[in-house]
Amino acid sequence: MTILERERLWVLQGERSAYALGLNDEGDLVHTYWGARLPYADDYPAAPSGSGWASFNGPGQTLAEEYPAWAGLKYIEPCLKATFADGVRDVVLRFERAQIEDDTLTLALRDAVYPLAVTPLSRRPAEHVLIARGVVTRKGGQTPTPLERVGSARWHVPAALARRLSHLTGRWADEWHLGRVPLARGVTRLESRRLTTGHHQHPWFALDDGHADEDSGQIWFGALAYSGSWALTAELTDFGHTRVSLGVNDWDFGWQLDPGTTFTTPICVGGWVGAGFGAASRALHDYTRDNVLPHRGARHRVLYNSWEATTFDVNEAGQAALAEIAASLGVELFVMDDGWFKGRTWDNAGLGDWTPDRVKFPNGLTPLIERVNALGMDFGLWIEPEMVNPDSDLYCANPDWVIHFPTRERTTARNQLILNLARTDVQDYLIDHFDHLLRDHKITFIKWDMNRNVSEPGWPDAPADARELWMRYVEGVYRVWGTLRSRHPQVIWQSCSGGGGRADLGILRYADQVWISDNTDPIARLGIQEGYSQIYPAVTMEAWVTDMNLGGAPLPLDFRFHVSMSGVLGIGADVRHWSEAERAAAARWVALYKAIRPLIQYGDQYRLLPAQGRDYSALQYMAKDKGEGVLFAYCTQMRGRAMGDAPYPTIRLRGLLPDARYTVEGIGGVRSGDAWARIGFTLPLGDLESAVRRIQRVE
Ligand code: GLA
Repeated sequence: MTILERERLWVLQGERSAYALGLNDEGDLVHTYWGARLPYADDYPAAPSGSGWASFNGPGQTLAEEYPAWAGLKYIEPCLKATFADGVRDVVLRFERAQIEDDTLTLALRDAVYPLAVTPLSRRPAEHVLIARGVVTRKGGQTPTPLERVGSARWHVPAALARRLSHLTGRWADEWHLGRVPLARGVTRLESRRLTTGHHQHPWFALDDGHADEDSGQIWFGALAYSGSWALTAELTDFGHTRVSLGVNDWDFGWQLDPGTTFTTPICVGGWVGAGFGAASRALHDYTRDNVLPHRGARHRVLYNSWEATTFDVNEAGQAALAEIAASLGVELFVMDDGWFKGRTWDNAGLGDWTPDRVKFPNGLTPLIERVNALGMDFGLWIEPEMVNPDSDLYCANPDWVIHFPTRERTTARNQLILNLARTDVQDYLIDHFDHLLRDHKITFIKWDMNRNVSEPGWPDAPADARELWMRYVEGVYRVWGTLRSRHPQVIWQSCSGGGGRADLGILRYADQVWISDNTDPIARLGIQEGYSQIYPAVTMEAWVTDMNLGGAPLPLDFRFHVSMSGVLGIGADVRHWSEAERAAAARWVALYKAIRPLIQYGDQYRLLPAQGRDYSALQYMAKDKGEGVLFAYCTQMRGRAMGDAPYPTIRLRGLLPDARYTVEGIGGVRSGDAWARIGFTLPLGDLESAVRRIQRVE
């Protein structure tokens, strides 16, 4: 039983954690508990009354309302704000009933006077730490109601226990920086106004008391499953309460809720763990693998991608030459990136005209695909469906299909404009076009890119409020992607937006993988990959070995492989220039990766020695049955140690069975899991040296 019901109290209970809410005597729906599972159902507190005696402290401030609408004396951040046809701008929600069906609790709320129904839903899959929440708003009556803000969920964290906010920030080619800041009184806001999730901030939070670490401490965390403009507010109130809301961004938001229609928010997941940030990440990883990804359990192939080797300069002979070498290294999937379609010699032309360029591919793509298949590899292709270059046939024929304001210049970025995927005719065109591409070619992998953010967000012939563009565009992307995915289930999709600009739990329902950054410098990548791992499992993280080194000459090949092997291994270097010795080493690493990838893609991840800001880091993956694991260690800089004999950090393994005995490759002895965890060991490495060591349970 995952949902308990006591008189006017509901408890969503998991194996170790619980979340409770109830109705108080005034009829308010109030959050009452989120934390460790308690021994008895009676342990969970009932909903308190919100009445205070001071006129300045209304229930809005003192109560932890589960889903507050803006009304009355509420000065807190509301989840819902709307205007009724007569101009009344406050929403008074009354509880009507609760319904429990399987693992889902549905609460029916209704405005006291107007025909507006608001239905928060909470789903608690028994085997997971996470709760998935969302809200459906429905309008009755005869008149539409403009919605101005509709959050997905409000999370209340126990007072005084949640004073530090962990968040992720960055920019293009420098994504996924983990920040930990004390929460200040008032509202901290993170958001995207870019139409996509963005490289800059991320719809995720983790809260702790300021003392938690990777292995210990209570963590309350959550993430929004949405790929458009979003907002997160973390509010520390005058009464010391911490409240976090996530949802579609209300910046420039508008939605006309017509009679008989509904508005459904994106899902927001949240969870509590008592064992540190590592446990919170593993809970998100498990949930994503079990509940979100389209190809659950798929073992992802080692791929080659042409972008950094050939950029736009692709043609049949050149790609075939790369494919020959890739196959000899053990690559299983050959992906041709940008440059293959009509008129695409640089980034200023071609987007929109998705037919093979006749100069580069005189006989179409099929001869290359057949060559790749004959080499024993699958074939994949890059596309950027949402975009158009003004220099393209598609734009000349349909200049009004782009997002624009009629009286304003259309701002290009990377020489491109954005097709208005809020329009169903544009969606239908894209579905039809790419359906044909996939039907006519043997393609098993698509990299779906999106290389700019929005400007002039206009929709001149919008049927209702043109600001609906923000959400209808994202729904359009989901519809096009979802339709193509269901028609071509053999295709694995990758989400890319100039690297990590569109990585979120919404897009991961369509894409199994993410290109998390255009920065492939291995040292930068250690931090980037680690930031990404806060939320998303390694099985979604494509990681290429390239020749990029922001500091000068390429880093040692072993180091580069070890960095990429901790995700879904790929190669993106110009392998034509690799020596025989380098190719032989690459083939060895690819073979090892194939042997250990079940651990990396489907095991538990432990950030033993975090990489961001450090020069020695270590990462471990452990099989779910704890029989086998793998350790990665990286040293980027150790000059200080060499001179001063400063000690190497101790590596203490995690996730082993305490009483079982294990070996660690290259480290002598058979020790219990407890000993490897408590005593640990050091692994001396020089500058830019790294190691991959297998961990085996012995009987
Ligand atoms: C984006 C992607 C790159 C590559 C180029 C192609 O920048 O992130 O990996 O596909 O587009 O133009």
